[in-house]
Amino acid sequence: MNMQKLIQQILEKKPIADMFRQCNYFQRHGRNYTCCCPFHSEKTPSCVIYPELYLFYCKGCGVGGDVITFLQLTENFSYMDAINLLAQELNLKIAPENFNSKIKLQRDICYAINRETANFYYFNLLRGGDKRGLEYFIKRHLSPRIIKKYGLGFAPDDWHALRNYLSQKGYSDEELILSGVCRKSEKGNIYDNFRNRVIFPIVNPVGNVIGFGGRVLDDSKPKYLNTSDTPVFDKGSNLFSLHFAQNKASDMLILAEGYMDVIAMHQAGFENVVATLGTAITPQQARLIARYTKEVIIAYDSDFAGQNATQKALQHFQAVGLPARVLHIQNAKDPDEFIKNYGSEEFKILIKNAKNAIHFQLDKCKINLDLQTEQGKASMLRRSVQVLAEIENDFVRKNYISKIAGDLEIDFKILESQVNNIIKKQAKNNKKIEFQKIENQLYQKDEMNPLANQYLKESKLEEMLLAYIMLFPENAEIVLKKLLPEDFITDFHRKIYQAVFQIISENFKFMPSFLGYFFDKNQMSRIAGIVINYIEYEFDSEIINHCILHLQNAKNQTVINHINMSDNDLVQVIANKQKHIHWTN
Ligand code: GTP
Ligand code: MN
Repeated sequence: MNMQKLIQQILEKKPIADMFRQCNYFQRHGRNYTCCCPFHSEKTPSCVIYPELYLFYCKGCGVGGDVITFLQLTENFSYMDAINLLAQELNLKIAPENFNSKIKLQRDICYAINRETANFYYFNLLRGGDKRGLEYFIKRHLSPRIIKKYGLGFAPDDWHALRNYLSQKGYSDEELILSGVCRKSEKGNIYDNFRNRVIFPIVNPVGNVIGFGGRVLDDSKPKYLNTSDTPVFDKGSNLFSLHFAQNKASDMLILAEGYMDVIAMHQAGFENVVATLGTAITPQQARLIARYTKEVIIAYDSDFAGQNATQKALQHFQAVGLPARVLHIQNAKDPDEFIKNYGSEEFKILIKNAKNAIHFQLDKCKINLDLQTEQGKASMLRRSVQVLAEIENDFVRKNYISKIAGDLEIDFKILESQVNNIIKKQAKNNKKIEFQKIENQLYQKDEMNPLANQYLKESKLEEMLLAYIMLFPENAEIVLKKLLPEDFITDFHRKIYQAVFQIISENFKFMPSFLGYFFDKNQMSRIAGIVINYIEYEFDSEIINHCILHLQNAKNQTVINHINMSDNDLVQVIANKQKHIHWTN
């Protein structure tokens, strides 16, 4: 099966609207659907899904594409991996010749080496002569069952054990370095990356081992070592244990700080738990979590660092619009220790009692204050008005104001007016920021298509023609015959035109998704935008001919200078989607 047939089958079998059903305000609108965009934070829906075109596009943030782009954006899959995954899910056969790209090969090698490596560490943990790794896990109360389930391992105290093993299997040193399991010293010696550490394999949702975390057995430093970035591993966009959590997390997902916490919770029956990979949570990871669940419970360590990290995580979840609550762990430093000391029933209660973000923030205001003293109360007042002013829902805000007023024994009205003052100030500020944003956008450089701003009119005409041939590929020949790629002025549009040209001349059929082979996910977003912008436009041959003629002549600078219509007028005209425009050129 050739690539385009495969893509076509994927699109037809995997309704794009299904990807968005979990989004807020998901709703049918005639032939299309709308919802709140999963790629940015918003309260009113600006994401539209067009089943007939197999495309989606968010007018708010400009992200768009097809199901393949969707997976690339949400799961950080490569183009080929996304196709692979969908094909697997839909039981479609993939011909190996589709996967001979160099990048794909590199990724495959990394997956294979990681798998062999995980096996090596696992068998070394159980069968190796050095039992310290196994003893360590047993000391930490892990059962043989959970060790097996997570495929935990032990890297021997040896500089070359893994390298020797993998060399025998036929892997070259370059490949071992590429996949991150070995490193090269300044002198050029190749050595194992993980030595004398217990090993936590990191597995992606499709079941591939993508990297490892390794912990020392004692108190030496660094305590944890993680695989650095490789063709298959990016610590900022994956989560530990997501492959176990993904199907158990629709109502609630627990986010822990460490590998051991995750495994302890999993063992105690809480399988809906993940952790970041040795770094603070990134916006990408927050978005990923939001894709899997309706609510996240942050279960970080109870120490100062953990509480600070909680604060940051809350901000990330707020930005992606995911409700979050915070676990309040008392008498233990982390969930692992808590479960060990008090058991899973108590932990269940802890989850039930997890506090919402507002509660967490207000509690934080009390830190280091003595609320019995006037000074303490005054500080608390000052800190809490800031938090209260952030609450958007009037009813909720009034409730909290009343609660805090009660705690501080002050008049509700006084606290309320202070909060309202801050809200007013902030509203003013926000307006300023909003205005500045718009202004910046107007004068922003177009990174993807640098000439677009300089040739505003031509760029708009190019977009119009591109939209036309992509929406009506059956009519594209008329354009393709008359207009050469060289006639395009802006580079990005020319590349799109060339690609469409190539696809149509080789094929009987065109779908915007076929461009995914030529363009990355950000470019696909732009392309989706171009198509969607003109979806209701009433094209006629007169307009198309004008576009063609203008572009043919525009290459000649002198002609450009004699165009009568101003750029602004043109943008207006196109924005208003008027029919029968009489351009003079
Ligand atoms: P233990 O209970 O001490 O085994 O560890 P933990 O898993 O509870 O980890 P801890 O609370 O010390 O840290 C939480 C997480 O932060 C760990 O799981 C690691 O992912 C990460 N981390 C901790 N120390 C280091 C370090 O030295 N380097 C890196 N890269 N990450 C670390
Ligand atoms: Mn711990």
